[in-house]
Amino acid sequence: MITVLFAAPDLWGEYSDVLPQALAEAGITAQVVQEADSGTVDYIIYAPSAPLQDFTPFVRAKAVLSLWAGVERIVGNATLTQPLCRMVDPSLTESMVEWVVGHALRHHLGMDAHIVNPDHRWIPVAPPLARNRPVTVLGLGALGTACAQALAGLNFPVTGWSRTQKTVPGVRCLSGEDGLRQALTGAQIVVTLLPRTPGTENTLNAGTLALPARGAVVLNPGRGPLIDDEALLAALDAGQIGHATLDVFRVEPLPQDHAFWAHPRVTVTPHIAADTRAESASGVIAENIRRSEAGAPLLHRVDRTLGY
Ligand SMILES: NC(=O)c1ccc[n+]([C@@H]2O[C@H](COP(=O)([O-])OP(=O)(O)OC[C@H]3O[C@@H](n4cnc5c(N)ncnc54)[C@H](OP(=O)(O)O)[C@@H]3O)[C@@H](O)[C@H]2O)c1
Repeated sequence: MITVLFAAPDLWGEYSDVLPQALAEAGITAQVVQEADSGTVDYIIYAPSAPLQDFTPFVRAKAVLSLWAGVERIVGNATLTQPLCRMVDPSLTESMVEWVVGHALRHHLGMDAHIVNPDHRWIPVAPPLARNRPVTVLGLGALGTACAQALAGLNFPVTGWSRTQKTVPGVRCLSGEDGLRQALTGAQIVVTLLPRTPGTENTLNAGTLALPARGAVVLNPGRGPLIDDEALLAALDAGQIGHATLDVFRVEPLPQDHAFWAHPRVTVTPHIAADTRAESASGVIAENIRRSEAGAPLLHRVDRTLGY
């Protein structure tokens, strides 16, 4: 019998049935508990809301399994010596693809002009075809790759950018500093799906925001600090960026007095692009515990030095 400590009390209601069931289906004899003698715990399920901050007493724990894809709030915890895995959940990926494609199509098709048209203006300007609207996705991980491929499937010419060089069918893949400049130059829609690390802070800044086509749209479902807020506001005011649809912010909830709320060319969504779904996430956790117990390498292991 292994002991799984579920350390995210606010999510217990969602997982209390489905996680034990997923573990049983994976052939694991386990008890999932909210409290335990730390020395008896084999695995820890973690979310940023977890009060647990000192991992030192969990001497027997074989892994800490995050319910979140982004791990910036735990990766620097000096007491964490156990392997850390981030969440890669098929349902989370599916919802991120829906959010990115939905917001990309809103801007591509110019939907706003027809949905909000109080003066009943008849302006018969058809949008270009997707094949004529270059899109760039910064980050080609689990989420960026799925979004890039979905957009490419709609005929958008898609460029993806990552730290190391990738090969993604149907997507022009670039890496490195020069690659970033090439990826952004002339893009009409830019999607940021990088993790928050010291290396990704302000990836979109005054210099890089000048590279996309004039009036380009920025979609940020990654993390707030990927963008320099002041530089984005200046680029919006100058018309260099036509619209920004932002799901994530440096401070969440976004403070009421933040300029993003009132800006006519900013859409705020409240960090809802891609939620972890308990049922599919439980399957991912169960599979990782099954692998670990069988001596196989853990999936989605975080590189502590890279921070993601
Ligand atoms: N808004 C939401 O609801 C929501 C939900 C889930 C996740 N997220 C965010 O989405 C992020 C991405 O998730 P994921 O699962 O796709 O992450 P992932 O699989 O770890 O992929 C991260 C990607 O970013 C690239 N990258 C990292 N550092 C870089 C750097 N310095 N320069 C260039 N590229 C860099 C990586 O390059 P390599 O491929 O070379 O390693 C990889 O392609 C998460 O970290 C989280 O912040 C948001």
